[in-house]
Amino acid sequence: MSLKGKHVGVAFTGSFCTYEKVFEELIRLKAEGAIVQTIFSNASQTIDCRFGKACDFVKKAEEITGIKPMLTIPQAEPIGPKSLLDILVILPCTGNTIAKLANGITDTPVLMAAKAHLRNNKPLLISISTNDALGMNMKNIGLLLNAKNVYFVPFGQDDPVKKPNSMIAHTSLLIPSIESALEGKQYQPILC
Ligand SMILES: Cc1cc2nc3c(=O)[nH]c(=O)nc-3n(C[C@H](O)[C@H](O)[C@H](O)COP(=O)(O)O)c2cc1C
Repeated sequence: MSLKGKHVGVAFTGSFCTYEKVFEELIRLKAEGAIVQTIFSNASQTIDCRFGKACDFVKKAEEITGIKPMLTIPQAEPIGPKSLLDILVILPCTGNTIAKLANGITDTPVLMAAKAHLRNNKPLLISISTNDALGMNMKNIGLLLNAKNVYFVPFGQDDPVKKPNSMIAHTSLLIPSIESALEGKQYQPILC
């Protein structure tokens, strides 16, 4: 399936170590002809850390996509009533956002976008990046794996010795995962 002309939402949450790869994927999505709307969680648009400054990440997203990022709950809310997106990807998705999403909490622009988008019966794709995937958050990942219209970018352990509970999605599989999700299918194998 071609992504040309597809409206793809890319929602950033606070897994800052993955942003370099995320920006590479934003460039790929644009090259495929997708119209890309970014959304930033409160953490992702305010925390400056060793991986960079929050305002620079927001600026870079706008430069790549040519569209102003959504930064507030009111900005993200019309995704539902105006049916703005064909697919929404939470890329990267923190343990915090996974836990809230699985439990129906809607207190960031990204969670608002997810709730608004899901009400339209359209696919939500999750690209996990969290140190507690095989620990505290396993139950929440399990809930989302079994949720309607929710798909995952294939994921696996990134450092089983030093971080035994950590799992991260293979962002290089983002585009085929989007294509599958748009057809209502989970890209396989999901664990790799
Ligand atoms: C430098 C830094 C790196 C972080 N990396 C991650 C990460 O890879 N995965 C994760 O789940 N949380 C990570 N966090 C913690 C989240 O940013 C924190 O839980 C935040 O509340 C997430 O909010 P959000 O899910 O609304 O973006 C990191 C925090 C900092 C300061």
